[in-house]
Amino acid sequence: MRELKYYVACTIDRLIARRDGSFDFFLGAGPHLDDIVRRFPETIPGHLHAALGVRPQRSWCDAVLMGRKTYEVGIPLGVTSPYAHLEQYVFSRTMSGRPDAGVELVTGDPLAAVRELKQRSGRDIWLCGGAALASALLPEIDQIILKVNPIVLGDGIPLFAGPTEPVSFALVHHAVYDNGFALMHYTRARRAPATGPPE
Ligand SMILES: NC(=O)c1ccc[n+]([C@@H]2O[C@H](COP(=O)([O-])OP(=O)(O)OC[C@H]3O[C@@H](n4cnc5c(N)ncnc54)[C@H](OP(=O)(O)O)[C@@H]3O)[C@@H](O)[C@H]2O)c1
Repeated sequence: MRELKYYVACTIDRLIARRDGSFDFFLGAGPHLDDIVRRFPETIPGHLHAALGVRPQRSWCDAVLMGRKTYEVGIPLGVTSPYAHLEQYVFSRTMSGRPDAGVELVTGDPLAAVRELKQRSGRDIWLCGGAALASALLPEIDQIILKVNPIVLGDGIPLFAGPTEPVSFALVHHAVYDNGFALMHYTRARRAPATGPPE
């Protein structure tokens, strides 16, 4: 079955943006960049493809999920279809119609929508963010891939928006680069199968 992967950049203190939504402090160059672009080319927005030498592709994922505020990051730049090489889903209870012909609007229960998407054939599903949508979708998140920038911000938008029951993940891969950037790849720890009472 397709998996839901939360692939996101964060600071040492696990913040994904300032409170105002800006994130200009993330490292935009350095030894990590070639590697993460090679591993996750689908996550590069279309308007940066030429600059980074990326061709549109769907190798590990073919769909991206964005909360309304994450989607709106591109609007001031005139970017209304940031990942046109993927199926794009924006989650909102307030938008009245799809904001671009290449974007699907999901107004209903995000968990139900993701469970339905997982039943379809296809490659994995990338959860772009942000914190509010990630919190709503935590029960269906199979993998978390953190791009940890060697920066402490002190205050900002966290990886998840609020308290939740503890969910265990196992570290399955990590890479550390000379500039202190780290890639941390976790997969959900599977619950032990339920067993009945002893005979
Ligand atoms: N560092 C990174 O890699 C990264 C990646 C992505 C985003 N970000 C940052 O994260 C910021 C946004 O994060 P955020 O947590 O504030 O917002 P968000 O999750 O992107 O969007 C929140 C909005 O999504 C909709 N939504 C969320 N949960 C929902 C639910 N259960 N049902 C229906 N709709 C739901 C709501 O839209 P309505 O209000 O319209 O109902 C909600 O206001 C952006 O400014 C961006 O800078 C960073």
